[in-house]
Amino acid sequence: MKSIQKRVFKDKNVLITGGAGFIGSSLAHALVSLGAKVTVVDPLLPLYGGNMFNLESILDRITFVDGDIRDGDLMMKLVKDQDIVFNLAAQVSYIDSKTEPFLDLEINCRGHLNVLEAVRTVSPKCRVIFSSSRMVYGKILKVPVSEDHPTNPLSLYGIHKLTAEKYYKYYHDTFGLDTIVLRIPNPYGPRQQMKHSKYSIVGWFIRQAFESNPITIFGDGKQDRDYLYIDDIVSAFLKLAESGKSGEIYNAGTKEKVTFVQMVDAILAEVPSGTKKHVPWPDNYEKNETGGYVADASKIERDTSWQAKVSLKDGIHKTVAYYKKNKKHYW
Ligand SMILES: NC(=O)c1ccc[n+]([C@@H]2O[C@H](COP(=O)([O-])OP(=O)(O)OC[C@H]3O[C@@H](n4cnc5c(N)ncnc54)[C@H](O)[C@@H]3O)[C@@H](O)[C@H]2O)c1
Repeated sequence: MKSIQKRVFKDKNVLITGGAGFIGSSLAHALVSLGAKVTVVDPLLPLYGGNMFNLESILDRITFVDGDIRDGDLMMKLVKDQDIVFNLAAQVSYIDSKTEPFLDLEINCRGHLNVLEAVRTVSPKCRVIFSSSRMVYGKILKVPVSEDHPTNPLSLYGIHKLTAEKYYKYYHDTFGLDTIVLRIPNPYGPRQQMKHSKYSIVGWFIRQAFESNPITIFGDGKQDRDYLYIDDIVSAFLKLAESGKSGEIYNAGTKEKVTFVQMVDAILAEVPSGTKKHVPWPDNYEKNETGGYVADASKIERDTSWQAKVSLKDGIHKTVAYYKKNKKHYW
């Protein structure tokens, strides 16, 4: 498998926007090991997961640009001669999108339009892969959730992600650009930010357990979730770059049905100093709560032969081991 991927990615020029963050940096590590020529652009905005420690061990083998996708001129320069652009840059908090709607719009819509315009203008043959989110679906009406499930996002973050998806589709249909969208469910794993609770619930709960603070669960915690380990997310991006169909949207997800409280129990099994506490749902919770989510990932499996491989138990084990060792870089 790795030798096939080496043939695909060796000496390819690859740009990763938001590449100092959790998913982007993990992709950068994988691509460097496959022989790609990787450029990362990231402004390391303080609220998000951009962290130079994520890239430290490959910094001498990539080009790092401290820059922003909102800078259209810079995007024109960076996109030129690229074979693949993984467009991961984002304001990532659905909670902050409520209080910072224009920031979310600027990064999650306008920034992506900049990248697409740059690709159209200077690199029209390049493949562009956009990381979208399960949050585009909103209230879940039917599980497992396939790509044609209704999209009625419950946050500005979700609305802007959906809008950006439509930009990618428009640039594909109208200008013939080679674009693909990946909808990611709840991601977790090494290199994820642990600074605050507004984003990355698994990471935040692991931190709470390390610090012996109780983990708070609203209600009985029986809602289903699809927690996808970082190695599986990286392999989904690589598989799509290799054999995804142009113009398509793909869900990624595991086949492991896990409830919220089972995720907490998996953390507590690894970090026995942690405890959990059930509290009532806050007022108006139904405005944000999507209901149980399980992805139907049969399309990406069919088109690219991708499959999630890491169980929640193994993924949490690896994640906890990583933070035990590297805590000081993430707290
Ligand atoms: N974590 C999730 O819950 C989740 C779920 C589904 C999809 N996604 C998407 O996956 C992508 C990667 O998220 P992540 O989990 O790695 O988060 P992250 O916060 O670790 O990484 C995002 C990176 O984008 C960078 N960034 C922010 N604004 C930028 C800008 N204007 N120009 C360039 N870079 C910018 C940040 O500095 C950060 O390094 C995002 O598009 C996110 O929306 C995340």
